[in-house]
Amino acid sequence: PQACGVVPEAWRFDCYPERGVVVTRELCEARNCCFIPASSSPPAPGRNGVPWCFYPPGFPSYSLVSVNATDLGQTGTLVKTVKTYYPKDILTLQLELLYETDNRLRVRITDPSESRFEVPIAVPKATEKASSPAYSVELSNEPFGIIVKRTSTGAVLLNTTVAPLFYCDQFLQLSSSLSSQYIYGLGEHRSSFLHDIHWNTLTMWARDVAPTELTNLYGVHPFYLAMDEGGTGTAHGFFLLNSNAMDVVLQPGPAITWRTIGGILDFYVFLGPDPASVIGQYLEVVGYPAMPVYWALGYHLCRWGYGSSNATWDVVKNMRNYRIPQDVQWNDIDYMDRSLDFTFDPTAFSTLPDMVKDLHSHGQRYVMILDPGISSVQPEGGYWPYDEGLRRGVFINHTDGSTLIGKVWPGLTSFPDFSDDVTHEWWYDNLKRFHDKVPFDGLWIDMNEPSSFVDGSTVGCPDTELENPPYTPGILGGLLRAKTLCASAVQKTSSHYNMHSLYGLLEAKASARALKRMLGKRAFVISRSTFPSQGQYSGHWLGDNRSHWKDMYTSIAGMLTFNLLGVPLVGADVCGFSEQTEEELCVRWTQLGAFYPFTRNHNSIDQKPQDPPAFSPAACSAMKQSLLLRSSLFPLLYTLFHRAHTHGHTVARPLLFEFPKDVRTYGIDRQFLWGKSLMVTPVLDPGVDYVVGYFPQGLWYDYYTGDSIRSKGEELRLKAPLEHINLHLREGAVIPTQRPNTTLFVSSGQPLHLVSSLSEDGSAGGELFWDDGESIDTFETDQYAHVVFTVVKNTMTSEVLHDHVEASYITVETASFYGVKVEPTRVMVNSHDAAFTYRANQVRLGVRSQRLSVF
Ligand code: GLC
Repeated sequence: PQACGVVPEAWRFDCYPERGVVVTRELCEARNCCFIPASSSPPAPGRNGVPWCFYPPGFPSYSLVSVNATDLGQTGTLVKTVKTYYPKDILTLQLELLYETDNRLRVRITDPSESRFEVPIAVPKATEKASSPAYSVELSNEPFGIIVKRTSTGAVLLNTTVAPLFYCDQFLQLSSSLSSQYIYGLGEHRSSFLHDIHWNTLTMWARDVAPTELTNLYGVHPFYLAMDEGGTGTAHGFFLLNSNAMDVVLQPGPAITWRTIGGILDFYVFLGPDPASVIGQYLEVVGYPAMPVYWALGYHLCRWGYGSSNATWDVVKNMRNYRIPQDVQWNDIDYMDRSLDFTFDPTAFSTLPDMVKDLHSHGQRYVMILDPGISSVQPEGGYWPYDEGLRRGVFINHTDGSTLIGKVWPGLTSFPDFSDDVTHEWWYDNLKRFHDKVPFDGLWIDMNEPSSFVDGSTVGCPDTELENPPYTPGILGGLLRAKTLCASAVQKTSSHYNMHSLYGLLEAKASARALKRMLGKRAFVISRSTFPSQGQYSGHWLGDNRSHWKDMYTSIAGMLTFNLLGVPLVGADVCGFSEQTEEELCVRWTQLGAFYPFTRNHNSIDQKPQDPPAFSPAACSAMKQSLLLRSSLFPLLYTLFHRAHTHGHTVARPLLFEFPKDVRTYGIDRQFLWGKSLMVTPVLDPGVDYVVGYFPQGLWYDYYTGDSIRSKGEELRLKAPLEHINLHLREGAVIPTQRPNTTLFVSSGQPLHLVSSLSEDGSAGGELFWDDGESIDTFETDQYAHVVFTVVKNTMTSEVLHDHVEASYITVETASFYGVKVEPTRVMVNSHDAAFTYRANQVRLGVRSQRLSVF
């Protein structure tokens, strides 16, 4: 091909992405592509680097041959005359542009002659065309391409003319320029929060593997947030609604390629313009996260290998003796009889029901693990879940109709098909039967990629196009069936090939539904595998990390990314899962974990205990302090979750969301915020008693002392002795905190302590959302209180925007004001003089248990 040399390296789109092939000139030119060995240094390990074989300018693609206006936008026909080198090109396509809202564009490219698989999640149906869209769309006819610009600035957010479009039955590929190098999201991967665009392929296909860089992990989230070009602080988002195995390739152009092996091309562009609005707009499409039950936000303790219910119980009792906060005790698979779901070991765990009752009588909760694999080899009539499942036809089958058998902890297992409502009913019945014996409160659903210890099934998989597609993305193990079921396996909705990465989502949906129905309360579910819209049904933990300092660091990026993906109830195994933790690491991790929206200490089998009392008195006390601190911040955390549930906000928030004009915040993933005001700067390295943190421009206060920092936008070195985690309050906030306690049930009636951080002009504001903590849809049914706090001109007022009985449970006990420059002579509460203390910069006063509504 001509003109190969004119294509700059950063803009070379890979024409030979197949792995394990040495791409020669001959192979490359057989695809009519350009072959130029790259001049730049060799790629980093695991990376492809500059492709040697790439599309020449003018490589055959589709042409747009007609366009018509529709009620919601435009429709067009795309045609192509030259076939590609993959089988089953679809030579005529239908293009649909849907101007759904002023900030949301949807584009669908489909096969007009035959229906293809579409992801079975509910997305909004627009009924009228956006009246003043923030975007403009230009269509290129020859070759076909879409260019989306932000109207206000002209910034190009999408330009698909940069490489040819592919639309074959099992190979669909769309490339676009990126507006900037600042791109986030694209879970689930282990990486920095800000993605590296230097030839970075992020493969998506749900997979059971300990988090490793550059491999597909448990969840699949084809969504990104990116900053616009030009450093203006505006941001946009992109979501490809597709569940098939795919590669997402980032290259320095900057550009992106979506390479998926099935479904359709159905994507959204979100206009923001600020990063938080992008997330809100994305979550309008996939669903806002559920409001968690209050105890979900407490401290959770778990491990694999407690050995018995009494050993588990002892840990709980010990925690009580030390008066360390603990809301929830968990059990891993060892509670089960021979690893069978819906059973418990009659010997080692004989006291399990008593332990659970004891937890309840102490205001604590119990959560246990369930794996999807159902043992298929128990004597007939001896194991109801399997017998009944078989009778109702709930299991995933081979194409010949026989039950697909894989292998998990209990040995040979079948796998429920959660895409079928019949399975939901069966799941509910099993939960109910078990709950009658062990009154658990929530569910931990694991191994739901789904994971199997034999590839495909015990009898292998048939040799079909679904098993051996013409192109396989860069998934670990190189085969779709690696450590999971046959791609050709049959599910109610579609083949496992299409449904695989939805398994965790659909199991979470069945579980949340069942819990709500059974308990009549908000469901608590934590799932390992996730997909867009997951937050409606469950939270997530970041999987099998190691007890390494590096794993603690990467957990921040994981937590922030899942907050972008609408799963704010997220955290990593505190102190590390596999390998032996060390005391210092575990202290620092418990401190960081106190600021995970979901905080659970979890440990692998055969590792020494790592619950707080397992360590020295000094370490245990430092951990206890951080958990009490978390407990005291519960009113703030709960209110932030309310905002996530009703507005699609993030809970744990990257600094860039609050300071989008400050480019220095774009790569920060060693610090983060809770909401807009509370900045957490954890220690992430061993052997240090200080930490360096970035303070965006403005006034900040040490959360504990009220000491102020006036930052020009600079890095500061902070003292961080072992028992201390740095917390700073941004100017202008009022945050509701409470007197801490060992369980949140008790503390939900604890008196409030309001902390205000005055801005330069002496103002501040904040809010509190409060309800009974567990009823379903309290916001939707008006069963909640909402109070707004304002400080202006030396006066704090609270306004009850929405009143409910809950508001009367809580009282304000104390209030602190940071940033009072001169010692006041009088402080009054509701027109009465009040006692107060003043120390440099800070007024603290007792307000004698004023009710919120009159305060
Ligand atoms: C998986 C889970 C882990 C659990 C283990 C045993 O590895 O990710 O958290 O402890 O299985 O159930």
